Amino acid sequence: MFILKLSLLTVLFAAQGLLISAENAITCYGNVQRLSCDSGLISVKSAIYGRTDSTTCSAGRPPVQVQNTQCSLKISLISKRCNGQRVCEFKTDVLGSPDPCVGTYKYYNTTYDCIQGRVRVLCEDSYGTLDCGNEVIQIINANYGRTDGTTCSEGLPGSLIGNTNCYAPDTLTSVATVCNGRSSCPVQASYTIFTDPCVGISKYLTVSYFCLPPSVQISVTCEGSTAVLTCGTGVLQIQSANYGRTDSIICSAGRPVNQVTKTDCYASNTLAIVMNRCHGKTTCSVSASNDVFSDPCVNTYKYLSIAYSCAVY
Ligand SMILES: *[C@@H]1O[C@H](CO)[C@@H](O)[C@H](O)[C@H]1NC(C)=O
Repeated sequence: MFILKLSLLTVLFAAQGLLISAENAITCYGNVQRLSCDSGLISVKSAIYGRTDSTTCSAGRPPVQVQNTQCSLKISLISKRCNGQRVCEFKTDVLGSPDPCVGTYKYYNTTYDCIQGRVRVLCEDSYGTLDCGNEVIQIINANYGRTDGTTCSEGLPGSLIGNTNCYAPDTLTSVATVCNGRSSCPVQASYTIFTDPCVGISKYLTVSYFCLPPSVQISVTCEGSTAVLTCGTGVLQIQSANYGRTDSIICSAGRPVNQVTKTDCYASNTLAIVMNRCHGKTTCSVSASNDVFSDPCVNTYKYLSIAYSCAVY
């Protein structure tokens, strides 16, 4: 659930200056894929395993293995493992995904943003506080466990750090529940708080997060529906808006894959239209439709995302 909420924030990254760069990694099956951010932290937008074109990873392959270009499977494990890290490597054949098209030679295609964020690490049985000052915390990712042999290892025998594939499944949900939307929150690396994912191993808690102005809210409306923005107090301030698609998960339920895979679709008139109808008002409605914005990407199922706040003068 939180992963979905985070991807709704994509439009905010740009508006708030959090977005540093947009990246793409393609790796042929059986090799190591490496995601990295020279600056900032990884936020995966889409991770697809399969084949959607016939030239990528085709060298030396018979035509029968590369001609199916309708094969794609979303791999959610990649965002779970990589979000919030600076570098993330995995061997593509150990992700344990089912084969979406037997007989076709496949590749991993991961699209991700590098965003500004902070990382906090607490060794076993340590306490700390995350603090965003006047802003509020948004957790990117969190894990209680062990994923390398060096973090929090000083002076420990090898037997205590031997498992580096250790993830407590409830970490992200429980840290996000305590911290999201607050200006500061306590965090603790302890098996009394999280499930113990590897008994006998010395673990640590890693939390990645960013800080947002407290008032910013995101409205997302799938194509065909109408966005209604309302301020209880004050008037609407529009921060950013886009009608199109920048994420493959949002508004994808029940849609064929080919309608949701294009994630670089922007209607350049969106901000002007939404500003015109909403800015400075207490309420407004805008329908997410081609009639309003015209069609920025034919055959893609789109949505209208608006980041706004309510200002009191
Ligand atoms: C990789 O995925 C992105 C986003 O879905 C898509 O735009 C791009 O065409 C894909 N590239 C290949 C080679 O499949």
